[in-house]
Amino acid sequence: MRQYVTITGVALAMTIGAIQAKSQETRPVYADVSRPVEERVEDALARMTLKEKVALCHGQSMFSSAGVPRLGIPELKMSDGPHGVRAEIRWDSFAEAGWANDSCTAFPALTALAATFNPEMAYLYGKVIGEEARYRGKDVLLGPGANIYRTPLNGRNFEYMGEDPLLAATLVAPYVRGVQENGVAACVKHFALNNQECERSSINVLVSERAAREIYLPAFRAAVAGGAWAIMGAYNRAWGEFCCHNERLLTRVLKEEWGFDGAVISDWGGAHDTREAAGKGLDIEMGSRLPFSSYYLADSLLAAVRRGEIAESLVDEKARRVLRLIFRTAMSGERPWGSLATREHAAVARRVAEEGIALLKNERGALPIEAGKVKRVAVIGENATRSLTRGGGSSELKVKQEVSPLEGLRAYFGESVEVVHAAGYRSGEPRYDRELPPPGNADSLRAEAVALAATADAVIFVGGLNKNHRQDCEGADRLHLHLPFGQDALVEALAGVNPRVVVVLLSGNAVSMPWLRRVPAVVQAWYLGSEAGHAIASALGGSVNPSGKLPFSFPARLEDNAAHAYGEASYPGVDGAVTYAEGILVGYRWHDARGIRPLFPFGHGLSYTSFEYGKMTTDKRSYGSDEVIRARLLLRNKGRRAGAEVVQLYASLPRSGVERAVKELKAFAKVQLEAGETREVALEIPASSLAYWDEAEGSWKVEPGEYLLQAGSSSGDLRQRATVTIL
Ligand code: GLC
Repeated sequence: MRQYVTITGVALAMTIGAIQAKSQETRPVYADVSRPVEERVEDALARMTLKEKVALCHGQSMFSSAGVPRLGIPELKMSDGPHGVRAEIRWDSFAEAGWANDSCTAFPALTALAATFNPEMAYLYGKVIGEEARYRGKDVLLGPGANIYRTPLNGRNFEYMGEDPLLAATLVAPYVRGVQENGVAACVKHFALNNQECERSSINVLVSERAAREIYLPAFRAAVAGGAWAIMGAYNRAWGEFCCHNERLLTRVLKEEWGFDGAVISDWGGAHDTREAAGKGLDIEMGSRLPFSSYYLADSLLAAVRRGEIAESLVDEKARRVLRLIFRTAMSGERPWGSLATREHAAVARRVAEEGIALLKNERGALPIEAGKVKRVAVIGENATRSLTRGGGSSELKVKQEVSPLEGLRAYFGESVEVVHAAGYRSGEPRYDRELPPPGNADSLRAEAVALAATADAVIFVGGLNKNHRQDCEGADRLHLHLPFGQDALVEALAGVNPRVVVVLLSGNAVSMPWLRRVPAVVQAWYLGSEAGHAIASALGGSVNPSGKLPFSFPARLEDNAAHAYGEASYPGVDGAVTYAEGILVGYRWHDARGIRPLFPFGHGLSYTSFEYGKMTTDKRSYGSDEVIRARLLLRNKGRRAGAEVVQLYASLPRSGVERAVKELKAFAKVQLEAGETREVALEIPASSLAYWDEAEGSWKVEPGEYLLQAGSSSGDLRQRATVTIL
């Protein structure tokens, strides 16, 4: 009997083995996840008809593009956005589909991530948002935003990472890596020169090649070098051509020079012509216009190829890139399964938020507000209770939870402190497609808030912008630098009845502060997402020591900003074109060049402790064909509590043969120190990163000379200097 069972078992095993082998043999190469992606791409392409290849190149619903149903190659499912996975959208309009299972974690806006100056945070952020996208079945996450902050009026600055190319480049790459480890493509946007919302779908950006290379392109270049699988073309034009089909940007720079092997996806409705789109670098045309067959890269392209007007090889190149994107995502091998709106994700959202909060001013011991030392705190402002995960445009989210500043403060102080609230002002419902109604009964709201403030030991004003139309929102820019809805007068009135007013600004942009001298403390608290209230309360109460640094300058007046120094031609543009007349002098580069004192400088952020910078020394070593400059100094936490400092290293070439910024950020490091702790901080600058773009040569050039290196706590607080010679 035993022998019979053995024989049967062996026969069975052999039969199963033969079936598996057979299925392995019959499985086509493109479907074999163990084969190299390039082999799979070529195998699939060889099997596809022209019609099937064209179908890959355009949307088939609002947020998906086609696969190859006949071959079992899946479609690509896409979703916004840079701060969280957007609610499910209908197939045929931008309306939400009304699902019950798509509430997400809202992570802090990317300005807050930038304010952490922490690449580890950027990776963690990408990892968890990628997990949420993966769980939601998305193959492409439409983010991060990597456009440079050129004007404080740009409606979408909150989706981007500030005014400095090194900061944005350093953070975008780990974010991309974190997302893509989930088998989800990051789609870095909006490539390129999308630095205003005013006339965004048509404005023609005229900028020097040098400014493009040194300021506006580095973050995208870093994303490509970091392995981004997708790039989104911007709506605007650059040098006369739409960015979604732009020979210079997409073909020459992105694909040929940088070697980008992923897919270029248009912004929604960003393509304008079949021949242009076919020949100038666009791979997938997305949009909101119906029917999808009417897209430039749909039936029109198919017909043009069939008429011999457009070479099929152009379609093949697009199809290759789209197939590569599919095999890296929807049809990849082992992909993690992701997770959605978990406690772990909320914890990451809170960590990024707490690390991004920037303490701009703190005098007379205004902060932290310690429970044992106050009995009543008055929280004033509509932003203390308003949901700020809604609004803003395509980055808006449907969240599982959102802790408001008021809720966070009440949870933080518990029974030990009475936390009372008055709105103080009203702004209206979150809409980004129309101007807001004028606020009603402003006087009585203000009177009520001032009366409450007079009774408190401390006042926390929570104001700022609110992601409504012209208040940090896609599709339109702000019209001025000051706070809306009478907030300036309200803050003055609060300061008139209470000496301890802490102003907390929720925004993604700089604002003017006419009341700054009247208040002892100001905190820039961004749009912090699901855990906003807990993060803000922890920073104000002192359980967290703020360590955020400004990723962009706060000008004292709008005209102090470079984009507003050359008239309308330089912003918002005239006759459909905007000229970046300031060239490379963006942000602090402009302030330095013109000797303009900002309200708060790039890189500024205080702490509840203080740091001492020891003498800086430098040395150099060869690194392949490059040289690496190393700057070292001892950093000491000389206060009584732990804290983190972002040591920033700026480089200058005083006797340069070309126009240069007075100084440029070339390295930074975030260092956590216990009270009294001293640690050596080493910062490295590859000599190649000191190069400028030589327009005559069309290449990067490192000037020999004696470079000045300055280390400090912000661009306006430099503590140590040293020189280094590049031969
Ligand atoms: C929007 C935005 C883009 C977004 C896309 C899809 O117009 O410009 O950032 O990803 O359309 O919503």
